Amino acid sequence: MQLRFRLEAGLRFSAPFTPEAELAARALIDEANRVLFMRGVPKGVDQADVGRITGTPEFRENVLLLTFESGAYTRAHDALFRFRKQVAPTLGKFRMGIREIDVGAYTISMKGDFPEDFRVPNLPFITGSVLSDGTLTLSLTVSAADLENRIPDRLVRLVEEKIEAATYGGKSEHWELVFESGKKPRHFTEDPTAAMVERGWIKHAPARGQWIFGPQAVQLFRAFEQIVVDEIIGPLGFSEMVFPKMVPWEVWMRSGHAKGVYPEIYYICTPKTRDASYWEDIADYFKVTGEVWIEEIRNRIDGPIGGMCYAQCPPFWPFVQGETLANDCLPIRVFDRSGTSHRYESGGIHGIERVDEFHRIEVLWLGTAEQTVEIADRLHEAYTHVFENILELEWRSAQVTPWFMAQEGMVGDQAACGCGERIGTTDYEAFLPYSESWLEFQNVSINGDKYPKGFNVKIQSGAECWSGCSGIGLERWTAAFLAQKGLDYEKWPEKVAKLVGEPKNLFTFL
Ligand code: SER
Ligand code: ZN
Repeated sequence: MQLRFRLEAGLRFSAPFTPEAELAARALIDEANRVLFMRGVPKGVDQADVGRITGTPEFRENVLLLTFESGAYTRAHDALFRFRKQVAPTLGKFRMGIREIDVGAYTISMKGDFPEDFRVPNLPFITGSVLSDGTLTLSLTVSAADLENRIPDRLVRLVEEKIEAATYGGKSEHWELVFESGKKPRHFTEDPTAAMVERGWIKHAPARGQWIFGPQAVQLFRAFEQIVVDEIIGPLGFSEMVFPKMVPWEVWMRSGHAKGVYPEIYYICTPKTRDASYWEDIADYFKVTGEVWIEEIRNRIDGPIGGMCYAQCPPFWPFVQGETLANDCLPIRVFDRSGTSHRYESGGIHGIERVDEFHRIEVLWLGTAEQTVEIADRLHEAYTHVFENILELEWRSAQVTPWFMAQEGMVGDQAACGCGERIGTTDYEAFLPYSESWLEFQNVSINGDKYPKGFNVKIQSGAECWSGCSGIGLERWTAAFLAQKGLDYEKWPEKVAKLVGEPKNLFTFL
């Protein structure tokens, strides 16, 4: 993509230009074009691609009107701010201080290959756009503060991303087999959810993708948790924490979820006031009609202030945000099992395997890159032992699109995140005989410096801080296990049967 930036700006000073000041300013412009704007530009770059002040500068009372033009190097707005920095001390000698910068017309043109049906997205700051002959011209309305905030650069990157997405639209998620357990004894070919419903172990709850788990199902959940504690997170030295389950925007802004998670959020709103009299008619409406007055409730709430727990680990990070961690407390190893995660799933809701409300143990660790990678490796070993020798599952693992990319709405392989070889997500999948398909039932990820960077966490030694996480889905473990082993506990692998005990039935419905 060939880029051009053009910007008109008025630099307003505290006093009118004297002939001497004008002369000094002209000399400065000349010098900036020759030297200042060339700084940091790689050798061999075409002069026309580098920012410069073009046209004739205009001096009007205490305002200096300039036009900046550039290609991809020392972009017009960068040139403007470099010039401002340079001009201040020089004109200071004439008792002229910079008061303000008024930004006039700002245009970006992008020349390259556009997919046939490319439509310019609706983006903030863009007040006009024309696409013709392979050149997209964008007119921006921006302030100097917006330019300092690098709005034009962000717009360009975003448009490029959209072009790429439109070009490779059908590109699917990355998936590459790592390990396969081979066949294991199967005792069952039914859908485990239907079988559990039939035996009264679970019932569908009133909300979308939500279940009520009876004692029998919870016996399994707790046995699995016990296995995870005894065999995996206990021996590897993880300590329990409680992460919040209401996630405010500020967390998702730093975690990257604010880039793309909107279609799947369960949003959270708060009452405009705690005052009971403000809500009395809403309550009365229900008392009289038997209906909840939802339409009116919408007018009486604020927010959304955020959403319900989605990925489970992001709300941990404010605990370490802005801190420098002592070398000897690393690697930090924690886990959370204090509540549900919520996702507004697509039509694919199925049984307890794909739900809007689910239960998961989230394992999280951080330290140096070496420590982070080593813990991931040890987790892989511990998981393998559990699936092979305790649950006796038919399972496999695969390298997939990192979850943090997928959740930001990006597809493709991990190379697209520009991250190193070891960074990424490994999915663990179990075979479901009833549907002859594979179910992802947990993952392990090395997330590189993404989270420490996003939440500004450092290490005493100055080494780069990395983190990893692993989500263990209890519904998914249950579905995988029951789909292969059935619901008769006599047929289960011994250790599991012993831990779960005989499923207890409390309810007799007449
Ligand atoms: N946070 C990771 C995810 O959402 C692991 O649970 O997939
Ligand atoms: Zn996580």
